[in-house]
Amino acid sequence: MSRLQAEHLYKVFGRRPDEAVTRLEGGTDRDELRADGTTAAVIDASFTVEPGQIFVVMGLSGSGKSTLLRMLNGLLEPTAGRVLFDGEDLTGLSPRDLRTVRSSKISMVFQHFALFPHRSVLENAGYGLEVQGVPRAERDERAAQALEMVGLGGWENSWPDELSGGMQQRVGLARALATDADLLLMDESFSALDPLIRRDMQDQLLELQKRLKKTIVFITHDLNEAMRLGDSIAVMRDGRIVQLGTAEDILVTPANDYVASFTQDVDRSRVLTAGAIMADPETAYGTRTDSGKEIRNAKDVLAAAPATVPAATPIIELFTPCSTSGTAVAVTDDEGELIGVVPRARLLAVLGEPMTPAAPPAVPAQPAPAAERSAAPAGKAVASA
Ligand SMILES: Nc1ncnc2c1ncn2[C@@H]1O[C@H](COP(=O)(O)OP(=O)(O)OP(=O)(O)O)[C@@H](O)[C@H]1O
Ligand SMILES: [Mg+2]
Repeated sequence: MSRLQAEHLYKVFGRRPDEAVTRLEGGTDRDELRADGTTAAVIDASFTVEPGQIFVVMGLSGSGKSTLLRMLNGLLEPTAGRVLFDGEDLTGLSPRDLRTVRSSKISMVFQHFALFPHRSVLENAGYGLEVQGVPRAERDERAAQALEMVGLGGWENSWPDELSGGMQQRVGLARALATDADLLLMDESFSALDPLIRRDMQDQLLELQKRLKKTIVFITHDLNEAMRLGDSIAVMRDGRIVQLGTAEDILVTPANDYVASFTQDVDRSRVLTAGAIMADPETAYGTRTDSGKEIRNAKDVLAAAPATVPAATPIIELFTPCSTSGTAVAVTDDEGELIGVVPRARLLAVLGEPMTPAAPPAVPAQPAPAAERSAAPAGKAVASA
């Protein structure tokens, strides 16, 4: 079962929100509604987050990211649609049950994490447990463990103002981790940090995630951050999810020019993997090795390859082998079986411009009714250009 599921979520602020949803379903666009003083902050958002996944929501300011996140933990009630947490409909819970879910199963880490200035670091980290009514001794122990996890062991008795911004942010993360919540909702949690510390926090989150296997929804407006962290990425624009896919999907086949424009500054050589760009092994058959021997089968490919790598290898690691040999790099699975090849020409080609959508858009320019839109294949473009 998916941990979290959003089904056709809408959030409209302003007058007659239900009527606005009907109009949006009928194809009215966001700007028309705005002219009437109504803001469609989230429009028809559907996605699933699997246990242990980091799901990233990316988009420019005002695209609806925070509003979407607040619906996921029930802080905001959707105007239409449902949120399922472990199969349970959050939108149907009583306020009391919702509070219970929110305090025990879901934790939120904000962009500017507000620590209590007159409480020690330990007390700040244990705050979520205090809200849950966990007794003092257990609270302190769990908070201390969480601080240890985020690299703040030894700082328990310090005051927040003795910590740098990055350290304070880590206290926020520790507070979320201490509660044992399965689901972490992180809204621009690292955005206020300077680049080096930010990268460090990303590494730390990935490292923690390997051990703790939480389910994380992470919001950012930074594509590089999205690509480093996200198992799956939703790109939002003007309230809609315009693309849902892996970092590689977004880089290699952006759903539209808007998404493509985001990807221009991304270091493709570090995001793309051998598995994403490899060709069938057969494409190497019939070619010759540097010494002129014909390659006829998988065994020959493996023998001649300047390097043999697993599919998850970032392509930046393929440049050196490809520069020393004209023969393709071999890509193998866990058993050492050949599953693909990366010839030098292919490596160079993928570093060029992204394949902008020359093909007709996935859906007509005029948004189709909701039912039709939802028929778009999961994980593929759901763009309405
Ligand atoms: N409580 C509210 N009342 C009215 N409009 C709102 C409210 N909250 C958000 N909005 C509007 O909804 C839209 C989406 O806002 P939201 O905060 O979700 O964007 P965001 O993607 O998180 O932006 P940022 O990157 O700046 O945090 C904006 O146009 C905003 O003005
Ligand atoms: Mg926001």
